[in-house]
Amino acid sequence: MPGRGALCLGLLLHVLLGCGSAQQPDSCPDFCKCSEPARTVKCVNRNLTAVPPDLPPYVRNLFLTGNRLARLPPGAFPAQRLPDLSALNLSGNHLRAVEAGALALPALRQVDLSGNPLVSLSPQAFGEGGSPLEELALRGALRDHGVLLSLATMLQSGVLRNLSRLELADNGLLLLPPGMFTALPALQQLDLSNNSLVGLRNVSFQGLSQLQSLNLSDNSLGVLRNGTLAQFRGLPALRRISLGRNAWVCDCAIEDQVAWLKESDQVEGKEALTCAYPDKMLGKALLKINSLDLNCSMPIDLPSQLQTSYVFLGIVLALIGAIFLLVLYLNRKGIKKWMHNIRDACRDHMEGYHYRYEINADPRLTNLSSNSDV
Ligand SMILES: *[C@@H]1O[C@H](CO)[C@@H](O)[C@H](O)[C@H]1NC(C)=O
Ligand SMILES: *[C@@H]1O[C@H](CO)[C@@H](O)[C@H](O)[C@H]1NC(C)=O
Ligand SMILES: *[C@@H]1O[C@H](CO)[C@@H](O)[C@H](O)[C@H]1NC(C)=O
Ligand SMILES: *[C@@H]1O[C@H](CO)[C@@H](O)[C@H](O)[C@H]1NC(C)=O
Ligand SMILES: *[C@@H]1O[C@H](CO)[C@@H](O)[C@H](O)[C@H]1NC(C)=O
Ligand SMILES: *[C@@H]1O[C@H](CO)[C@@H](O)[C@H](O)[C@H]1NC(C)=O
Ligand SMILES: *[C@@H]1O[C@H](CO)[C@@H](O)[C@H](O)[C@H]1NC(C)=O
Ligand SMILES: *[C@@H]1O[C@H](CO)[C@@H](O)[C@H](O)[C@H]1NC(C)=O
Repeated sequence: MPGRGALCLGLLLHVLLGCGSAQQPDSCPDFCKCSEPARTVKCVNRNLTAVPPDLPPYVRNLFLTGNRLARLPPGAFPAQRLPDLSALNLSGNHLRAVEAGALALPALRQVDLSGNPLVSLSPQAFGEGGSPLEELALRGALRDHGVLLSLATMLQSGVLRNLSRLELADNGLLLLPPGMFTALPALQQLDLSNNSLVGLRNVSFQGLSQLQSLNLSDNSLGVLRNGTLAQFRGLPALRRISLGRNAWVCDCAIEDQVAWLKESDQVEGKEALTCAYPDKMLGKALLKINSLDLNCSMPIDLPSQLQTSYVFLGIVLALIGAIFLLVLYLNRKGIKKWMHNIRDACRDHMEGYHYRYEINADPRLTNLSSNSDV
């Protein structure tokens, strides 16, 4: 009897305690689905306007997508309550602002901010010390040039030194802030596809010693110049460069790039790259171009052309001189007559002078002037 009572009590306690201890982790925020074994919480397409305050502390993977968060204030994800949060998907949340410290979490490895119309991104969003972040996706999220500049400041500050994958596709980017990628020593994959980049002249890939893949497809690149090609050659791990669907201009300036394409095995699908301009070259494969197609002789011949034009000028001048002399010779009688005329005219003139001199020398007039002096 006492044994049975103790068992009952034990069961009761077990149930109570079990319920009690299960209550806490089992609590799942409204409109979310939680799985403790998978350490995953999903709050998807529910029009939430703020991060649920009661996220379970076991969460590692949080899908908070398709809501209406609008902004992430500082401490939106409290670090002490979410020590294990590692993958955070915030895509499609109508986010306009991500403020300082909003994503400063000790275990955060992956963040997806794609499809948010960001107009403000704090360079301290991931804190000010080092962040463990490894993957950052910002597809179609950089509507505003100011946000791009803030991102560049963040990357350059060295907070994200462990970043290995950066997705900046679908942003309509025209140019990249200089030095944007200089403090990313762990970066392995960089996706810049489907933007509007027209050139890479000011973009430095220096220091990306781990970079393995670089996606530049679907941009507006016209040519890659020596400086960029030299950087590509100098990156030891870079094995996959995607350059498809750009606006390659097949004139003289593309010679160096074609030479590089022919010799390099860094470019994925290089056989498919084709010229977009000029019309005569439209659709021609870059690999099939040889320097004769490009009519590059012009600039090389320029000095010799200049020389021939000087020679031509000299000949013309000599000819004019000869004709002048010939005219003089043929017209020698006329010239003689002309000379006589001039001489006569001069003589008349000189006589006029002579006459005036005589008037001036008249003594009466001289006296008159000396009298008036007295
Ligand atoms: C979210 O809002 C949209 C329009 O504001 C509405 O059509 C949709 O039903 C809402 N979704 C939920 C889950 O409440
Ligand atoms: C985040 O969620 C969106 C929408 O479900 C999905 O398309 C995207 O692949 C997810 N991102 C990651 C990094 O898993
Ligand atoms: C970055 O990665 C290294 C090596 O994996 C690790 O030791 C370091 O703690 C990481 N930095 C941060 C800020 O987590
Ligand atoms: C390319 O980016 C634009 C936005 O700049 C987007 O509308 C379009 O869907 C993207 N295209 C692809 C194939 O992802
Ligand atoms: C580069 O991006 C395009 C989309 O613009 C995609 O189709 C392609 O697979 C990507 N290449 C690599 C190597 O990831
Ligand atoms: C490239 O950088 C130079 C100076 O470093 C600047 O004058 C020029 O405007 C830049 N070009 C672009 C397209 O950013
Ligand atoms: C590019 O570099 C190659 C050698 O690496 C050189 O022959 C060529 O003249 C350079 N082109 C320009 C435009 O400087
Ligand atoms: C190069 O010059 C030749 C002859 O002048 C011309 O027929 C050809 O169309 C030119 N090619 C290009 C790409 O301009």
